[in-house]
Amino acid sequence: MASCSSIFVLILLITFLNFLYVSSAKKSTFSMKFPLTSTPLSHNSSSKALFLSSLMANTKTMSRVPSLNYKSTFKYSMALIITLPIGTPPQNQQMVLDTGSQLSWIQCHKKIPKIPPPSTSFDPSLSSSFSVLRCSHPMCKPRIPDFTLPTSCDQNKLCHYSYFYADGTLAEGNLVHEKITLSRSQSTPPLILGCATETDDAEGILGMNLGRFSFASQAKVQKFSYCVPIRQGNHSVKPIGTFYLGQNPNSRTFRYVNLLTFPQSQRLPNLDPLAYTVGMAGIKIGGKRLNISTKVFRPNAGGSGQTIVDSGTTYTFLVEEAYNKVREEIVRLVGPRLKKSYVYGGALDMCFDSHPMEIGQLIGDMTLQFENRVEILINKERMLDEVESGIHCVGIGRSESLGIASNIIGNFHQQNKWVEFDLRNRRVGFGKGECTRQV
Ligand SMILES: *[C@@H]1O[C@H](CO)[C@@H](O)[C@H](O)[C@H]1NC(C)=O
Ligand SMILES: *[C@@H]1O[C@H](CO)[C@@H](O)[C@H](O)[C@H]1NC(C)=O
Ligand SMILES: *[C@@H]1O[C@H](CO)[C@@H](O)[C@H](O)[C@H]1NC(C)=O
Repeated sequence: MASCSSIFVLILLITFLNFLYVSSAKKSTFSMKFPLTSTPLSHNSSSKALFLSSLMANTKTMSRVPSLNYKSTFKYSMALIITLPIGTPPQNQQMVLDTGSQLSWIQCHKKIPKIPPPSTSFDPSLSSSFSVLRCSHPMCKPRIPDFTLPTSCDQNKLCHYSYFYADGTLAEGNLVHEKITLSRSQSTPPLILGCATETDDAEGILGMNLGRFSFASQAKVQKFSYCVPIRQGNHSVKPIGTFYLGQNPNSRTFRYVNLLTFPQSQRLPNLDPLAYTVGMAGIKIGGKRLNISTKVFRPNAGGSGQTIVDSGTTYTFLVEEAYNKVREEIVRLVGPRLKKSYVYGGALDMCFDSHPMEIGQLIGDMTLQFENRVEILINKERMLDEVESGIHCVGIGRSESLGIASNIIGNFHQQNKWVEFDLRNRRVGFGKGECTRQV
């Protein structure tokens, strides 16, 4: 009887503690601010992971991933990185903020005593709140309806995950439970994370999509937002922006567009139902609205054509019909200045040898238009990105060149703007920001 009641008390206590955490995170006043940097990735392989993370969610099985030859050429891909204290006592981990993927993962390695910090990876043996997932865990079943990551049971009966691609393993490791410390007084309950062992990248990934196992869902975050700092041509200078979990004090000025949601039962081969899908309405270049049917920005019967707001993809990608209209207009405006037969990373083909400011002036501002008359204005000074020394490209590519069927709004076109993901109200907000000055 005694043991029975103590178990009861324990359960009560756990329920209570859990409630405490959840209720404080749920309060509309919950707000926590972190610095956010926009940096080129340190290793080729992480830029692959980053670039693919959106596609992963987009493709229901690994075998659907098309040939991915473009990936290594995106070595200058810009990532949004935040640092989170993970484990007990906390170890600071750099994580790539990715609204396009679900599973969060950290780089797990035993720290080698001789090598002093900054050793960027996470050492599980130093954390008392770390535990591994056994194969018997429900998460380790081969088919979790809305989780696309293939898991298996390793020889130690631990839950193993791996991303396989044509060129071999991209990331693999074990699924684990670990806490993330949000502040001195607040930490999440143990969350399911990937613990990557077979990689030497510096960064992990903070998966923030709508899936049940994303960080946002597991930590019961109701909204989050970020302000992407203007990237400098000079990569040795790292501009710092802002990331908020919870309420953003600037949100009164945001304009919102509702998320398009898709029933779980609606399984279309090219649709990612867990992505932040918005209703795009059109594109304006230099004040002229391009003649693009809104249909091309919505999923069709096969799920192709959804428009995703993604922090984990660098550039913006448009499906064929929309891309062609954009290119047509750019050619009309600055055709003779285009760098002939030059394609950056197999995807960006509107590039110029010189005078980015002058080219920008000739093209003019660009506006991405959404439902509810929400707009993203891209200033003419930010139409072009320097992709290699002296070469500047319009930051828009053809989705098809990546083998994907969606429109993706990448972080290049989210610079100097607040972007808020309001999970509770199922909407995305945009607001003017002076991101580099926020910290
Ligand atoms: C990174 O990419 C460059 C060029 O694509 C290549 O020369 C280099 O060997 C790669 N490094 C690694 C660690 O794969
Ligand atoms: C980049 O910035 C660093 C530090 O401010 C400076 O030393 C370097 O000359 C700059 N490089 C270029 C190409 O502007
Ligand atoms: C817009 O495009 C459609 C189909 O591409 C075409 O039929 C129509 O004539 C175009 N309208 C204008 C004003 O160019």
